[in-house]
Amino acid sequence: MFKKLHAHLTNKKRRIASLMNEGFTLDRDTIVVLDFGGQYTHLISRRVRELGVYSEILSYDTPLAELEKVPGVRGIIFSGGPSSVYDEDSPRVSREFFSWCREKRLPVLGICYGHQLIIHVLGGGVKRLDRREYGKTVLYVENKEDLFKGLGDREIVWMSHGDQVVELPEGFEKIGHTDNCPIAAYRNTESGIYGVQFHIEVRHTERGVEILENFVRGICGCSPTWRMEDWIKETVRGIRERVGDGRVIMAVSGGVDSTVAAVLLHRAVGKNLHCVFVDNGLLRKNEAEEVIRRFKQHGFEHFHFVDAGETFLSRLKGVTDPEEKRRIIADTFIRIFETKARELEKTYGKIEYLGQGTIYPDRVESAATSKASAKIKSHHNVTLPEGMTLKLVEPLASLYKDEVRKVGKMLGLGDDVVWRQPFPGPSLAVRIIGEVTREKLRILREADAIVQEEIQKSDFRKRLWQSFAVLLPVKTVGVMGDARTYENVIAIRAVESEDAMTANFAKLDWDLLERIASRIVNEVEGVNRVVYDITNKPPSTVEWE
Ligand code: XMP
Repeated sequence: MFKKLHAHLTNKKRRIASLMNEGFTLDRDTIVVLDFGGQYTHLISRRVRELGVYSEILSYDTPLAELEKVPGVRGIIFSGGPSSVYDEDSPRVSREFFSWCREKRLPVLGICYGHQLIIHVLGGGVKRLDRREYGKTVLYVENKEDLFKGLGDREIVWMSHGDQVVELPEGFEKIGHTDNCPIAAYRNTESGIYGVQFHIEVRHTERGVEILENFVRGICGCSPTWRMEDWIKETVRGIRERVGDGRVIMAVSGGVDSTVAAVLLHRAVGKNLHCVFVDNGLLRKNEAEEVIRRFKQHGFEHFHFVDAGETFLSRLKGVTDPEEKRRIIADTFIRIFETKARELEKTYGKIEYLGQGTIYPDRVESAATSKASAKIKSHHNVTLPEGMTLKLVEPLASLYKDEVRKVGKMLGLGDDVVWRQPFPGPSLAVRIIGEVTREKLRILREADAIVQEEIQKSDFRKRLWQSFAVLLPVKTVGVMGDARTYENVIAIRAVESEDAMTANFAKLDWDLLERIASRIVNEVEGVNRVVYDITNKPPSTVEWE
């Protein structure tokens, strides 16, 4: 719900952009990953962070003046990408880029497309292969002085490329080859430039992490300063510095991102934080009570609960189209939030800031879809209608989900929050196919509670990305006792995923599925059939809508 607010404001807006802890910088080394459109770009950045070094993804065409402003930058990695250096509109950097890096003493490592691009720009030769090379292969290591320090003579690496480097410019030397790829790795020690044709960021490259570590720690000289304990302290200090005595309003949903962001903000500004939790009447069984209890437990002085179920349900009456349902829910939410914000201003005085639980992938993804907005890094305001202007505070804007979980744990949040599954902003409305009614909500809540209970008791508890029930708009025949029934169908959805971009249906135990199905049919009035969704995403989606 919280992210929906951001998205909703973005769409309507006027003047908005994300703001990342503006006004203070953390004392840390940084590796910049330049994104050339590769599917593993995030993975490179995560692996660097796993080495204890902060990393930030930026677009390949980030101006040098912007790159120079990145605090603590010590080295640059070029990601892979789907292009060929011969494509007319392939993403590139200029020759000057490399002179600039040399001047600043910033080592560069190119991976796959990045490895080819460096050579292409600096005047070497890149050739198209007759056939794409894909999969594991043996790398023959020719030099172990720096990038390949500590490696054996032969190592398993993972390739996926259609072009390859065939000729090196002056000053470069080959440091590894494979049977099909004569220049699988190179270096130019004078300029600090390195390249590998294979993907060191994927697990199939067995010693990929060591190669990355040789670059990040050995060649770039980064120290492992990316520690969550320090991050918490410095972030709290930074918020305090920036917000001062100002008031912050924040919509919370009970989800891990907004809860962790709220707890951090609360540490920083205490009673000047106003959390608003809107019950849209579409939440799961006992969810509103749970969220309220948890926030009270954390000692929030100003936790405002808005029971708006009636408003949402009446506005959803008769609506069956999924997009229309989403639109109404987002619109109703923003109106309620605005009204509450106004009311609070009257009681407590001016509110200057809007807290948000935006996390790193949200920020990078929204930037990727809009190049222009990607470049807006400066200070921007969110304007709620009728003249209320709020500055954004996004304490989690540099973290990945697993890092948010780590922070949550360190802040003393329980497993129930830290491991809470994602729950969509439009809530159960996307899990009731067709019109939303009170009766359908009752059935879905009861069925869903059984799914949650059984999954929580099972070994699948931490393995699933999401697990839930869906209420279908059909009735089918069944038999109970001696009587014929004509009742609703519940579908169960359980998926495994890393980021919800793709997802596989979970291969749950038959016994577990049987227990869930028989409990639902026996305990939930109005259901006589349960089915299991066995499609992956793509081609399906996680939610049914
Ligand atoms: P789909 O159905 O697109 O879902 O495969 C991918 C992930 O996104 C969640 N989801 C949402 N989250 N607001 C949210 O905050 C939404 O409107 C929304 N729709 C889907 C979904 O639960 C899954 O984790």
